[in-house]
Amino acid sequence: MKYTDISEIVLHGEKLEGSEVTVAGWVRTARDSKTMAFIALNDGTCLKHLQLVINKAEFPEEALSPCLKNGVSLEAEGVVVPAVAAGGGHEVNVTSLSLIGDCPQDYPLQKKRHSLEFLRTIPHLRVRTNTFNAMLRVRSKVSFALHRFFQERGYTYIHTPIITGSDCEGAGEIFRVTTNGYEDAKLAKDEAEYIAKDFFRRKAGLTVSGQLEGEVAAMAMGKIYTFGPTFRAENSNTPRHAAEFWQIEPEVAFAKLPDIIKVAESMIKFVISAVLEECSDEVDFFERAFEKGLRAKLESVVASDFAVLDYTDAIDILKKADVEFAYPVEWGLDLQTEHERYLTEQVLGKPVFVTNYPKKIKSFYMKQNDDGKTVAATDLLVPGVGEIIGCSEREADYDKLLSAMTERGMNLDDYKGYMELRKYGTVPHSGFGLGLERILMYVTGIGNIRDVQLYSRTTGDLMA
Ligand code: 4AD
Ligand code: MG
Repeated sequence: MKYTDISEIVLHGEKLEGSEVTVAGWVRTARDSKTMAFIALNDGTCLKHLQLVINKAEFPEEALSPCLKNGVSLEAEGVVVPAVAAGGGHEVNVTSLSLIGDCPQDYPLQKKRHSLEFLRTIPHLRVRTNTFNAMLRVRSKVSFALHRFFQERGYTYIHTPIITGSDCEGAGEIFRVTTNGYEDAKLAKDEAEYIAKDFFRRKAGLTVSGQLEGEVAAMAMGKIYTFGPTFRAENSNTPRHAAEFWQIEPEVAFAKLPDIIKVAESMIKFVISAVLEECSDEVDFFERAFEKGLRAKLESVVASDFAVLDYTDAIDILKKADVEFAYPVEWGLDLQTEHERYLTEQVLGKPVFVTNYPKKIKSFYMKQNDDGKTVAATDLLVPGVGEIIGCSEREADYDKLLSAMTERGMNLDDYKGYMELRKYGTVPHSGFGLGLERILMYVTGIGNIRDVQLYSRTTGDLMA
């Protein structure tokens, strides 16, 4: 490639001082004075723009003016020099300039700052804003840091199926996968016939979680993790729920709940340290644009111990709270986002693992505690977002698992293999799911899940 990454010049310019470079990118802003012109060029390799300095006397007007427009793509050659303006850094004194792609006046990104709502209407262009430039880089770094965390600790990366026949969370939020159409439905005499004619000859759906297959892998590989897209047909139109989101799901054989809590805490700290180290400019940007105190928050998460709070104690605290909650607080009811945020923001001021939830509100696979009422499960709640991790020790006892599934009226045929894991060499094991978009919201301060994905999928809106 003949082009030098703009990040090389902007972030490590001293190495290139005095040398000739060729760069290519999109014009973010262009300024023009009597004798000089200045272009801020971005090629996506870093958040900062490269300043191109142009001595107008050296360029014919008809070659220069098409390049001084917001949004055009161009190529420039020149010499790397220390920036003239205060603040340090490097810029390029341009010797040759050529337009690659024009950008007419109706280009929607004319203003300095657009609302996130407006940007959602132009997903193909919003990537060219500072917000998406920074978010996508942080997303990439966070993903890679997650891989690094598990790879460095001997976990095997497993690819679990996207199309499944089982409902891991048992919440009925499955997107159906079918090749049957409207006509097939009309011709079938009943549901059984309709399904028998379908591609898999049985009901299939998009996975809501790789956990069940992850457990299969962990029962041979010991420590595994999955990292992939998961899908939920949740009809809730909230800033935190997407129909398509990414989950990282480790599963660890021979681990009990306190063991897996330690893994989760060190993973979160590892990822946040990576963001602070590798995305410092982005953190500064998000601090300015989205969340005052962001850097201090992230630093304090790395430095502090997370709290652990029993669900029963959490209910006591919420009942005594001097706050009017919209949803009722009662032992046995699930915590709502407002309750989660109160606990983590007002009471503890840091991330908290809420443990031992009532079994009635949690999934069938969770280990039943001896009290007969609760399960060895925990959610990690963080200020500003609420739940980012769902975690549990799994029920490793065949009979107890069977009774939990029977109580829920589940179709046991769909889970035969899963149940047999408890028959052939069962071991205690635990795992969790971290929502990638949730942790991105936490580390960027971006308040809506629709803005931490390239394209978001939410009820009623298949962004395109
Ligand atoms: O708490 P959940 O439902 O747990 C599971 O799916 C387990 N099977 C995970 C496991 O133990 N392997 O989901 C896990 C996490 C949540 O804490 C949240 O961060 C994220 O996935 N999540 C969502 N993120 C965005 N949009 C949604 N609709 C989400 N639903 C869950
Ligand atoms: Mg959950």
